[in-house]
Amino acid sequence: MTRIGILTGGGDCPGLNAVIRAIVKYAIRENWEVVGFRHGWKGIIDNDFLPLNLSSVSGILPKGGTILGTSRTNPYKNKGDVDKVKKAIFDNKLKAVIAIGGEDTLGVAARLAKEGVPIVGVPKTIDNDLNATDYTFGFDTALNIATECIDRLHTTAESHNRVMVVELMGRHAGWITLEAGLAGGADVILIPEVDVSIDEVCALIKQREKRGKTFSIIAVAEGARLKRFKEKDITLDGEKDAFGHSRLGGVGNVIGELIEKKTGFETRVTVLGHIQRGGTPTAFDRVLGTRFGVKAVELIKVGKFGRMVSLQGRNIVDVSLDEAVGHLKTVPPDFYEMAKIFFG
Ligand code: F6P
Repeated sequence: MTRIGILTGGGDCPGLNAVIRAIVKYAIRENWEVVGFRHGWKGIIDNDFLPLNLSSVSGILPKGGTILGTSRTNPYKNKGDVDKVKKAIFDNKLKAVIAIGGEDTLGVAARLAKEGVPIVGVPKTIDNDLNATDYTFGFDTALNIATECIDRLHTTAESHNRVMVVELMGRHAGWITLEAGLAGGADVILIPEVDVSIDEVCALIKQREKRGKTFSIIAVAEGARLKRFKEKDITLDGEKDAFGHSRLGGVGNVIGELIEKKTGFETRVTVLGHIQRGGTPTAFDRVLGTRFGVKAVELIKVGKFGRMVSLQGRNIVDVSLDEAVGHLKTVPPDFYEMAKIFFG
């Protein structure tokens, strides 16, 4: 009897359950057994898992989050944990493990694959910054939520003649902010890839005022840096997770205060935060997650390990895990330049 394991690691993301469901339903058709490790790599280290059958995945397709739980545990952080991962795979007689995650989770998977562990990766992140795939599931849902929020801020900004700063997720890449900003008609968009000065932002607000627009929407990615803060991220506290990331947050407030001081416009700041990550996935993310799950099982069937499933154009293909985690997929400069046509 073939047995496989699944885990979900890193920040949760709409569509995770669609992937889990697809893997379990397809694997069971092949007469395989599936186990789900709880809370990402932590579950394998602790050998903490649950059997997954048709009733475990019944009704989970439209549910946000992950029925397996998640964590940012890094087995390469503590001595002995990698051996525990290998032992759990051996003891449970697993043919392979499917790791569903972003840069960090799949970075671990890539290292384990090099050490001979049979692993297949599925790319997940609302940030859409994973390399070697056109899209990760979760991004479309986050984008739609963020766009709706910007639409809502528009009407209240206009009624009060205010500047509304909206801070969106995006640690290293501004995909959500740029696309939601474009879709929602933001007047200035600030992303981590491009440094802009506060004076440039205020000049655009003033330019709008000259043509009778007494309100503005400024979309800011949490990882955006104004020119004067170029050297450092704006963080909530000094804490770092097991992968060395700080908790970002607060750049919207810093920008909001400066705008109010420099333009005289009353300014309000909205931080969308985890609203973007919670709740039911869009149809696009459900279908993408389902196709990724099926492809992951197919890779195991043919014994192709150390690979990540990927969307390229309309096709689901596989790429090496190394290619996926080598560097992040950031917003290309020409896309940002195009968006600037609509600033001010
Ligand atoms: O990586 C996805 C992401 O949502 C980032 O955009 C954000 O910086 C981070 O996760 C927040 O993570 P946490 O769940 O630890 O607050």
